[in-house]
Amino acid sequence: MLHSLLAPLLVAMAVQAPPPPASPSSPKAEEIEMCLSCHGDPQMSVVLPSGETRSLAVDRDVFARSVHGDKLGCVDCHTEMTEIPHPPRPFKTKRDFTIAYYEACKRCHFATYSKTLDSVHQAAVARGDVKAPVCVDCHGAHDITPPDRPRTRISATCARCHEGVSLTYAKSVHGRALTEHDNADVPTCTDCHRSHDVAGPHAPGWRLQSPELCGSCHASDSMMKKYGLSTNVMKTYVADFHGMTASLQKKGQAEGGAVVALCVDCHGTHDITRADEQASPVMQANLLRTCQRCHPGATQNFSSAWLSHYEPTFEKAPLIYAVRIGYMVLIPFMIGGLVLQILLHLWRVVVNR
Ligand code: HEC
Ligand code: HEC
Ligand code: HEC
Ligand code: HEC
Ligand code: HEC
Ligand code: HEC
Ligand code: HEC
Ligand code: HEC
Ligand code: HEC
Repeated sequence: MLHSLLAPLLVAMAVQAPPPPASPSSPKAEEIEMCLSCHGDPQMSVVLPSGETRSLAVDRDVFARSVHGDKLGCVDCHTEMTEIPHPPRPFKTKRDFTIAYYEACKRCHFATYSKTLDSVHQAAVARGDVKAPVCVDCHGAHDITPPDRPRTRISATCARCHEGVSLTYAKSVHGRALTEHDNADVPTCTDCHRSHDVAGPHAPGWRLQSPELCGSCHASDSMMKKYGLSTNVMKTYVADFHGMTASLQKKGQAEGGAVVALCVDCHGTHDITRADEQASPVMQANLLRTCQRCHPGATQNFSSAWLSHYEPTFEKAPLIYAVRIGYMVLIPFMIGGLVLQILLHLWRVVVNR
């Protein structure tokens, strides 16, 4: 009877139209009250075959304050629960329970659901990893609130399982700007890894793409000007031997699997610091050690001779600067001469006929 009452509504929901808010006398509010006449009891629970106890209580106020509170009734998610007593549902563990119920999100958030199918997390779920998250592990079920407000909430969500990474990140130049100054320009976990189609260094090619990730901000003049940072870092990286090798490898023209130096190899990843900080791996005093990870024989001369992100200028590197200027003059001169010689030659042939 309840189901036939709700059927037209369910059809409307399936096409993602936001349902009308539940006013006190609406069928939704009545349905919620009906369900809560049993599930409103905070003591209600069930013992699963695994021996785990599962609470069956739902808090009315918490649900009302959630993003769905004024939009959905219970049966919008629990489509099979209209019969009372409920049809038997044989769950052995708490995890079985969650895995079965989270599928309810798919009906209205289909695009998001599809994205999660491509994630490292879903791959782990498919392997039977009970620690890997599905929708409700990150968002909750009856207590869902906006996941990105405040923005620090995003890293807090990931921190539940990636505590080590999150603590490191919080101390980095990016993490500090976010937590201490609520800075919206710096990247948080999902800017680099995404939130639903989550990817990481084990995905083929992902690590090699990472300079583009950094470049999405560090090549932006308008953003970097605010912090007095140079956008040359991208241009010089790509022109440098390290960046060159990385882009060749990405195009499949260099030997696969060869070591290349990416931004994160010199600067770190979750522990990026300001370039002039004591702990910075790119500070002059620490730079040699950073190079030695891949150039074991390198000496002090090696790292100090390198121009890092500088374009050669007369002050920084007079010799290279001079050679460059030399080329800038010499090459057009030589090519021009060559073209002139060919033209003169052709003219000669024509005149001689
Ligand atoms: C008369 C009391 C009663 C009412 C009313 C009631 N339930 Fe239940 N519900 C139970 C009991 C008892 C259980 C545990 C045993 C079972 O699964 O039948 C349960 C279990 C559940 C479960 C977990 C079942 C599982 O898969 O193990 C869900 C979800 C649920 N109810 C949703 C609802 C919804 C939605 C409504 C309103 C449409 C509702 N219930 C109305 C008594 C009730
Ligand atoms: C947005 C979808 C959604 C709505 C709306 C919803 N539920 Fe649930 N419910 C879930 C999911 C998902 C789970 C499984 C949660 C988990 O395993 O952590 C769940 C679990 C339950 C359970 C099992 C015990 C528990 O708390 O985990 C009961 C009982 C239940 N819901 C009743 C209700 C009642 C009553 C309402 C209406 C007031 C309601 N639900 C509204 C999605 C929803
Ligand atoms: C019956 C349809 C329906 C189902 C099922 C449903 N949702 Fe929603 N959800 C909505 C609607 C409608 C909104 C409000 C959209 C808006 O405000 O733009 C919403 C909003 C949200 C938001 C907030 C989005 C934001 O921008 O802040 C999250 C997060 C969310 N849902 C997660 C879930 C999860 C997780 C589940 C499964 C447990 C679920 N939803 C099941 C319809 C649904
Ligand atoms: C690993 C944790 C995680 C999982 C799993 C996850 N989400 Fe999210 N979700 C987030 C975060 C964090 C945000 C905040 C926005 C952002 O950073 O992209 C978000 C945002 C959202 C939003 C707001 C709109 C948007 O896309 O930005 C909706 C709706 C949503 N999630 C629904 C779902 C549904 C449905 C599932 C399961 C199919 C799911 N999420 C699985 C972490 C997760
Ligand atoms: C409920 C626990 C849980 C939550 C919450 C969670 N993760 Fe994960 N994450 C896992 C598990 C489990 C794995 C799989 C580890 C493995 O493959 O061995 C994983 C793997 C990853 C990987 C791939 C690691 C690698 O070595 O390739 C990345 C990246 C990642 N998660 C990012 C995130 C981000 C970003 C968030 C927040 C939006 C998040 N995770 C939230 C449990 C979680
Ligand atoms: C600026 C971009 C960026 C941000 C922000 C970021 N990551 Fe990463 N993450 C990376 C890169 C690049 C790697 C690969 C590092 C490598 O292979 O040397 C990585 C690796 C990982 C890994 C797998 C390897 C490991 O160290 O365990 C996990 C898990 C992970 N990140 C989770 C997170 C979480 C959680 C956050 C937020 C607290 C976060 N990341 C923030 C870029 C980022
Ligand atoms: C979403 C934008 C964004 C992304 C993506 C990003 N950054 Fe940043 N980064 C910033 C902003 C903004 C600052 C300045 C923060 C401040 O000074 O408070 C910064 C600061 C830095 C600094 C410190 C510069 C100094 O000496 O003060 C380094 C080094 C750095 N980022 C490297 C990286 C690397 C490497 C990556 C890629 C793995 C990356 N960033 C990805 C926005 C970004
Ligand atoms: C081979 C090591 C190496 C690589 C690869 C590298 N950097 Fe640097 N980076 C440095 C050094 C060394 C400095 C310090 C320059 C100085 O102040 O002398 C630096 C400085 C910086 C700064 C601070 C600039 C400023 O204006 O103060 C940023 C931002 C930065 N790098 C980002 C990047 C990004 C983004 C990439 C990848 C596209 C990258 N770096 C690749 C070594 C490297
Ligand atoms: C993650 C590994 C890695 C790190 C760290 C690294 N390099 Fe390299 N570097 C390479 C590889 C691989 C090559 C050879 C292929 C190429 O040209 O990119 C190379 C080539 C070079 C060359 C070209 C000449 C030669 O010996 O082949 C110079 C100069 C150089 N690196 C300087 C540096 C300096 C200075 C640092 C420290 C600031 C540094 N590298 C850090 C991997 C690295």
